[in-house]
Amino acid sequence: MIQTKPSVLTILVAGGAGFVGSHLCEHLLEQGHRVICLDSFLTGTQDNVLPLAAYPNFRLIQQDVADPLDISERLDRVYNLASPASPPHYQADPVHTMMTNVQGTLNLLMLAERHGARFLQASTSEVYGDPEMHPQREDYVGHVNCTGSRACYDEGKRAAEALCYDFVRAKRADVRVARIFNTYGPRMRPDDGRIVSNMIVQALTGQPMTVYGDGSQTRSFCFVSDLVAGLMALMEARIAPATPVNLGNPEEFEIRDLAMLVHDTIPTTSTIVYRDLPEDDPKRRRPDISRARELLGWQPKVKLSEGLPQTIAWFAAHVKAQATHTGETASVQTLVQG
Ligand SMILES: NC(=O)c1ccc[n+]([C@@H]2O[C@H](COP(=O)([O-])OP(=O)(O)OC[C@H]3O[C@@H](n4cnc5c(N)ncnc54)[C@H](O)[C@@H]3O)[C@@H](O)[C@H]2O)c1
Repeated sequence: MIQTKPSVLTILVAGGAGFVGSHLCEHLLEQGHRVICLDSFLTGTQDNVLPLAAYPNFRLIQQDVADPLDISERLDRVYNLASPASPPHYQADPVHTMMTNVQGTLNLLMLAERHGARFLQASTSEVYGDPEMHPQREDYVGHVNCTGSRACYDEGKRAAEALCYDFVRAKRADVRVARIFNTYGPRMRPDDGRIVSNMIVQALTGQPMTVYGDGSQTRSFCFVSDLVAGLMALMEARIAPATPVNLGNPEEFEIRDLAMLVHDTIPTTSTIVYRDLPEDDPKRRRPDISRARELLGWQPKVKLSEGLPQTIAWFAAHVKAQATHTGETASVQTLVQG
């Protein structure tokens, strides 16, 4: 069979300076595509994007997605990952989080429409809220508190999905929606307050490791390379699935077991401490990924026992580098355009 070389696409990654977005940009660049990263650096970092400058096909635009957008270069694909994702960050300015997800998604959908580009929305398992269905299937409509402190994110993402399907029904854009479950890996921010990064940093620095509630609540952890493969498979699926697609690792862990695993992997003097559960914290989280398996042939490959040591090694180097760093870092301003 004659193998044809995949064509070079021009791809906008909004939120490309973040944890997941920077891995996505890197994979797309490695495939030879032109990548435009658009990011406000709200939670993204220059450390994530500076290595990407080594690729001649990489361009960076510093901008808020909630502001009017215009890109002159013809776009083939638009990934929307722009949104703070961890509770302390998205709760810091809840109105801006809501507007990022509603106005920002609308701006990016209209951009995709103008360019005739395919659009992928990074949605979240948080649209299921504190779920009463377990595991969560895409047809479950969710159990979300619209007045709680997580609503700016959960309801913002739900409104963004509604916008996406309004564009689909009106035939204004070719849209795909990924509902992403907890993802972990190198380049998570040490201070972002997510469970995996929190525990690793606490163990590495000898602080008490915090477990909320009695630790019997569950999460399923997907390694970032698996998620990126899923996002790219969904974007490149020839026919857009008519509904959102869960992307996550269905292996379910109790939080207290995760704490023990981190504790056993890192030589640490840390003890495990128990604190009150935050408001609206979901008790169980596990994706049903039958749809992703059927439509995309996708399923996660990296077990927590493999991904966790890689993540710990990255944090160990990163936390140490931060502690010893005295010099100037190269400025991201040298990369920024527009
Ligand atoms: N990581 C996860 O476990 C997870 C789970 C579910 C959904 N998601 C979704 O995936 C996407 C990426 O998540 P992440 O973990 O990489 O988070 P992240 O915070 O590391 O990345 C988000 C990026 O978006 C940028 N951003 C935020 N608001 C913006 C704005 N108004 N304009 C322009 N840029 C803006 C940030 O600066 C950052 O670079 C998010 O949309 C998130 O909701 C992630």
